[in-house]
Amino acid sequence: MIVILLGPPGAGKGTQAQRIEKMQGLVQLSTGDMLRAAVIANTEVGKKAKGFMEAGRLVTDKIVIKIIEDRIQEGDCKKGFLLDGFPRTLTQAKALDNMLDQKSLKLDAVVEIQVDDRDLVDRIIGRYTCTNCNQGYHGENLKPKVDGVCDDCGSTNFKRRVDDNQETVSSRLEAYHCQTAPLLPYYEEQGVLKVVNGMVDIDDVSVQINDVLSSLN
Ligand code: AP5
Ligand code: MG
Ligand code: ZN
Repeated sequence: MIVILLGPPGAGKGTQAQRIEKMQGLVQLSTGDMLRAAVIANTEVGKKAKGFMEAGRLVTDKIVIKIIEDRIQEGDCKKGFLLDGFPRTLTQAKALDNMLDQKSLKLDAVVEIQVDDRDLVDRIIGRYTCTNCNQGYHGENLKPKVDGVCDDCGSTNFKRRVDDNQETVSSRLEAYHCQTAPLLPYYEEQGVLKVVNGMVDIDDVSVQINDVLSSLN
């Protein structure tokens, strides 16, 4: 199964992708996570991406298309994958269509997680993740069961993203509305767009996404 999770920054793409990965065994491919790893490793891609990411702007299509092109060749993607944060422009969407065509694969669904802009800022500002296993948490909405200890791996080290600040969030939202939102009619025309309400509890969003995925089997 090949599924795209689409939605604005803070919509819950990463949170839901981690859950689906655990439950359905679909690999999560997050271009944001891959780019952040490249920045930390100071690779050529990381050096090019850093400034765009810190400013809340999209990294160039060429860079992210190449990242996904390479990644989907790997063995763990054979059973399908879940795209989180890619594609984000029409150019990227068309490049993905071509990649899938070449492999005689088809896109099963694009799940749009709908959340109003005003709720996104609190979610982003409250977010933090486990330094060791990348499990996501939130200061109010999703705390670890034991304060300060990761549920998944027991680590006590957590981190916040450098682009999770008020100023950068505005640019990221603008990038979403100008550059990514045009993908919604594009996928609607292809008949693959499914909409879920992202403004309910995390568990309730998961139920809606699971319903969509079960209807595809
Ligand atoms: P990326 O890492 O993809 O960031 P993003 O799109 O801004 O999305 P986020 O990761 O902020 O949000 P999310 O939807 O994953 O929300 P989450 O589940 O964490 O990209 C970062 C940067 O990389 C971009 O700005 C760009 O520069 C570059 N980039 C990446 N991909 C690119 C591409 N394809 N092309 C070009 N550039 C690219 O949830 C947020 C918080 O809310 C969490 O704390 C969570 O616990 C909480 N939460 C989640 N769901 C709920 C709920 N239902 N109710 C209450 N709280 C909730
Ligand atoms: Mg994310
Ligand atoms: Zn952890």
